[in-house]
Amino acid sequence: MRPTIVAGNWKMHGSFAENLDRLTALVAAAPALAHVQMIVFPTFPYLVSARSALAGCGIEVGAQTVSEYAQGAYTGEVSAQMLRDVQCSHVIVGHSERRSLFAESNAQVAAKFMAAQQAGLVPVLCVGESLTERENGATEAVVFAQLDAVIEAVGIGAFARCIIAYEPVWAIGTGLTATPEQAQAVHSAIRQRLAKHSESIAQRVAILYGGSVKPDNASALFAQADIDGGLVGGASLQAQDFIQICSAVEK
Ligand code: 13P
Repeated sequence: MRPTIVAGNWKMHGSFAENLDRLTALVAAAPALAHVQMIVFPTFPYLVSARSALAGCGIEVGAQTVSEYAQGAYTGEVSAQMLRDVQCSHVIVGHSERRSLFAESNAQVAAKFMAAQQAGLVPVLCVGESLTERENGATEAVVFAQLDAVIEAVGIGAFARCIIAYEPVWAIGTGLTATPEQAQAVHSAIRQRLAKHSESIAQRVAILYGGSVKPDNASALFAQADIDGGLVGGASLQAQDFIQICSAVEK
């Protein structure tokens, strides 16, 4: 049985006070949602306060990115060990905004994945195609290239301790959601790609869908065989929307 995970990527939004309000609402809702693994991804300055606000309630805290370097003169960067030090459990690597706005390459994403795991963090590896790539029939080629770069760098065994998020770029922040069938097709293709290396790891790894997940589309997405939950952006900023999305996971 794979876990069902609903994660909130808060991106560069919010303030100390807003985050605390949101976390208080999540803590109150957590007992009724014990069948869902919830993870929140605030920005770096708020990780410590988020961790303490969530203490003991079962909701995990992760960071939105991480340096591929262990330590040194890398002004502005944050290492995986530092994230562990403040009790982060997860980190997003290869989000499309990092790939497109900050020019992160497949090789760099693979290095970040490795650095995260070496420090004991669970990487959440994001993959996904642009609209043009989808229209050109290149969805699988793009997603497989993103996946293969990491498999080649870290080996399939490392996928026993990671989460994958399929996030079609055209669906992120646009209000356009992949249909459950479109998403399921890519999730299944990702699982088959992993299965070429290891059937048991392919069956174990949680693959989340991200891209305009909302309270009204979450249950149809989560009902798909290979969709193990969601990575939620905009809707995770409203506590009640996020809670409703978590409630869409069947017990
Ligand atoms: P939206 O839910 O706002 O489309 O964002 C998805 C996302 O990028 C999560 O990482």
